[in-house]
Amino acid sequence: MSKSVLVIITGSIAAYKSLDVIRQLREHNVRVTAILTKGGAEFVTPLSLAALSGGPVYNDLFSLKDESEMGHIRLSREHDLIAVVPASADMIAKMAVGMADDLATATLLATDKPVIIAPAMNSRMWEHKATQRNIAQLCKDNIRIIEPEAGDLACGEVGSGRLADVETIVDRIVHALVGDQPLRGFSALVTSGPTFEPIDPVRFIGNRSSGKQGNAIAKALEQAGAKVTLVTGPTAETLPENVKTIRVEIAQEMLTACKASLPADIAVCCAAVSDWRIKSPCREKLKKHTNTSAPELDLVLNPDILHTLSTLKNNRPKLVIGFAAETESVRKNALQKLKSKGCDWIIANDVSEGKIFGKDMTSAQFITKQTNEAWNSISKDELAQRLVKKITTHFTSQNVKIITKKKG
Ligand code: C5P
Repeated sequence: MSKSVLVIITGSIAAYKSLDVIRQLREHNVRVTAILTKGGAEFVTPLSLAALSGGPVYNDLFSLKDESEMGHIRLSREHDLIAVVPASADMIAKMAVGMADDLATATLLATDKPVIIAPAMNSRMWEHKATQRNIAQLCKDNIRIIEPEAGDLACGEVGSGRLADVETIVDRIVHALVGDQPLRGFSALVTSGPTFEPIDPVRFIGNRSSGKQGNAIAKALEQAGAKVTLVTGPTAETLPENVKTIRVEIAQEMLTACKASLPADIAVCCAAVSDWRIKSPCREKLKKHTNTSAPELDLVLNPDILHTLSTLKNNRPKLVIGFAAETESVRKNALQKLKSKGCDWIIANDVSEGKIFGKDMTSAQFITKQTNEAWNSISKDELAQRLVKKITTHFTSQNVKIITKKKG
């Protein structure tokens, strides 16, 4: 996840818990910037916030230093979400009427991003009509509320108003940032890009694969919550974030890296692996001698990674997906490939006339033993999204089946 949150800490005895919220958000790879209100600074120090957030801590609307570093308008827009943790009764009241008399309130008024608050206060203050009126107003304003819990309060009373659990707050923030993550808990292996099989130290057998499609699939799987390993051949493309990436050159290395990345629930073999390699690549650069014939290249078959993964006895991923780059009889050849490789699904591309390789757009047929769908003229990102949807549905319907079986 490559998201950022602006956390506003207001004056409440629960303010110390915001430190743990920040720590856990960072464990989810969320970048955190903090605003500490005057009240909040009575309970936690800017130093501990800076240490845990790993970023700057702002507190003053009229500070020349803060405004020149990042003005409050930028501060309010440059994050994906603003979280007020804890939100005091005073802050809630100010937000409800739209006050802007300090950095925190001015930022909240200027933002165009979602806002989520975790109130914390004495139970009488929480239950007071004024606070409840303010909360109702904030709900109307589309501000999300993480309800406080009932229990022992710091003031010695018992009742509702205690800051929600740190885990609950972190979960709600992460969910607000990334939405549902249907593949959370799943692991996926993606192969991508070409392989370069050396002829000699300077020449190789390669192909036109750019790695764009494999990267897009790895990114979409990661965004859906899967733990992804990307095994990629040489590519100039920017690699996706938060994905464990193993760079390889040749097919044999790709196979070794794939096997080392098992077990995995899902395998998507998107790489354009060279079918052959030179039996014995020359250690020295082959010389071209005028008037002599060209050298003969002795080729041997490369291992077929898709076939190997699909036919593993013990460690076969639950769902194995292959690609087929074809220039003729696309569907017929893809169906044949589905059988011969032993994979579950095939995505077939017509790569004739320089289509698809290296381009941002693609056209494909999604082929299983039961179905065949045409996905015409879509971006490679869109193909990745559609594939992830199919994968999610596949695993969800399997779960439904298991539940039904148990009940029956
Ligand atoms: O046999 P062909 O290269 O057409 O098959 C394409 C599919 O097989 C792709 O999914 C590709 O990633 C995979 N493949 C492989 N190892 C090979 C050749 C192809 O994994 N040596």
